[in-house]
Amino acid sequence: MTRRKFICGNWKMFKTGAEAAQLVRELRTRLSESGVQIAIAPPFTALESAHAALAGSHLQLYAQNCHFEKQGAFTGEIAAPMLEAISCHGVILGHSERRTLFAEDDALVNKKLRAVLDTRLAAIVCIGETLSEREANRTWEVVSRQVRGALSGISSEQLSRITLAYEPVWAIGTGRNATAAQAQEVHAQIRGLVRELYSAPAADAMRIQYGGSVKPENAAELLGQPDVDGALVGGASLKADDFARIIAGAKLTI
Ligand code: PGA
Repeated sequence: MTRRKFICGNWKMFKTGAEAAQLVRELRTRLSESGVQIAIAPPFTALESAHAALAGSHLQLYAQNCHFEKQGAFTGEIAAPMLEAISCHGVILGHSERRTLFAEDDALVNKKLRAVLDTRLAAIVCIGETLSEREANRTWEVVSRQVRGALSGISSEQLSRITLAYEPVWAIGTGRNATAAQAQEVHAQIRGLVRELYSAPAADAMRIQYGGSVKPENAAELLGQPDVDGALVGGASLKADDFARIIAGAKLTI
């Protein structure tokens, strides 16, 4: 089974609308149509200008979070149907910064995922252990709990709209990426769990991105691993050249 590589840039809380449009224009001059699926995830306030700037390109638009209700008295929140209405393709859920800084747990991530899948949107669901969990040999205990929690009650039909992103927390924004072998080991375990929870075809089709200090220098090696199907890129996605070089690295592996 060949899984199409999927690279998503997570812009976090960077870029105004005007800056986002500028970065999209820069990206468009550097990216050619390829076998790689490419998305960017700007902040909410930059989604519409990014969408206008990427019109006619093959770049997809993702949001970085959403609420689990369709609407209501939830001051400061954004609902999945609102993202659908402004032409988002999908939503990133359960990023470690949401889990750590905004107290999102597995049950909340699951509620959000169900809400997203009630629309036509896709989801990237992030999982990953902290440094102390890795050092205590609890990586698989934590990651498997997060995968099971996120996917609870999700049908195999819905699974095709989900990408999992393994992001070891100790590798995010630190410049210290997981080695290709470390990433491959956990990705293979995650695929095995999807096989156990669903089926062999579902596991074969599931895309599992790696995230955490992905850079032009390490992209090809990480993406060359058999179970690494793409990357969720933070810091390096804010520079058009670096992001384009990471995508070029992904192309080398297909
Ligand atoms: P990083 O972030 O590439 O800056 O390490 C990755 C992420 O948080 O998704």
